Amino acid sequence: MYKDKYRKIIDFIKGLYKKDIVPLHEPIFVGNEEKYVLDTIKSSYVSSIGEYVNKVEKFMADFTGSKYAIATVNGTSALHIALLLSGVKPNTEVITQPLTFVATCNAISYCGAYPTFVDVDNDTLGMSPKSLESFLAESCLVKDDGVYNKLTNRKITAIVPMHTFGHPCKIDKIIEIANRYNIPVVEDAAESLGSFYKGKHTGTFGKLGIISFNGNKIVTSGGGGVILTSDEELAKKAKHLTTTAKVQHKWEYYHDEIGYNYRMPNLNASLLLAQLENLEKFVKIKRDLAMKYKEFLDWLGVEFFTEPEYATSNYWLNAIFLRDREERDEFLEFSHENGVLCRPAWVLMNKLPIYKDCFSYNLENVYKIEERLVNIPSGVVL
Ligand SMILES: Cc1ncc(COP(=O)(O)O)c(C=O)c1O
Repeated sequence: MYKDKYRKIIDFIKGLYKKDIVPLHEPIFVGNEEKYVLDTIKSSYVSSIGEYVNKVEKFMADFTGSKYAIATVNGTSALHIALLLSGVKPNTEVITQPLTFVATCNAISYCGAYPTFVDVDNDTLGMSPKSLESFLAESCLVKDDGVYNKLTNRKITAIVPMHTFGHPCKIDKIIEIANRYNIPVVEDAAESLGSFYKGKHTGTFGKLGIISFNGNKIVTSGGGGVILTSDEELAKKAKHLTTTAKVQHKWEYYHDEIGYNYRMPNLNASLLLAQLENLEKFVKIKRDLAMKYKEFLDWLGVEFFTEPEYATSNYWLNAIFLRDREERDEFLEFSHENGVLCRPAWVLMNKLPIYKDCFSYNLENVYKIEERLVNIPSGVVL
């Protein structure tokens, strides 16, 4: 019944990408990638020490306005370390959102803690400050040594909002609530490199923030991530923990705690630096692409998700809303039959067997979003 509408969307996407099979993302290498990677191979510094790692860290600190940036092997490891450094301990709870990639919850689990889910906002798709505030007020108890979930009796040790699909959430309100309850915020900005909220880069509002450079992100190092913080002490600890907690010495191998081998290799950093040199160009192209989608989909009468008020988004992953689950699934079937690899939202974290027993607080918006949302191809088109 809706086939004509679906056909028009698919033809439009194929017209944009001019390909038989259109994936959701595809990295593009049009700058100094080969030059820098070859340079690294020739230098023999392919592993965890090298100039490109330092250059990437400087670029990331300058670009985001964070005082410090510590490069890691991926975004998940960055989040793991950021959570440890913000004080997340075994058997505690970390508040996050059910609409996220599983890495957010897995990093919480690596600390021995449990994710606790609050709702998202319809206009940002990120954590709802209102839901967070109500959860803390209604379901938590403030004790001398911190805030406890009344039902589970576990301490809340961090809040992890995520900037969904690159769109900034209402991070200033979340920080304000978190400060009132004295709970640290770790921003999962894995998807939002190049996205700003009220002029400030995402990932720089919380005590710590992280960004991912996975192959599906706006720029890539193959695999990679970065921890952002403006706290010198935390930055030093982050570097120490990600480099096996080795105490610097000319020849001695002395490790003063159990650390992690999470440092980004120089080989990956060389690829990344070349990608970062094109970051602003890629953001512009993705924003232009989103506007093309919007214009076309408005004309067709299909709802296209646009950046929230006060935000400048990188439009990492574009999203449309269809009428209901039935139409969503019909469209997904049709798009895949026709080589356009659209995708529904992630299965919500609180529905996964591994996280279904975690505490969820009044989730309403997120279920409606999950039913109707479809991600459409968003790779940079040159
Ligand atoms: C929201 C979110 N958090 C964390 C990650 C983890 O990043 P990585 O894949 O680099 O480990 C990703 C993406 O991959 C993500 O989308």
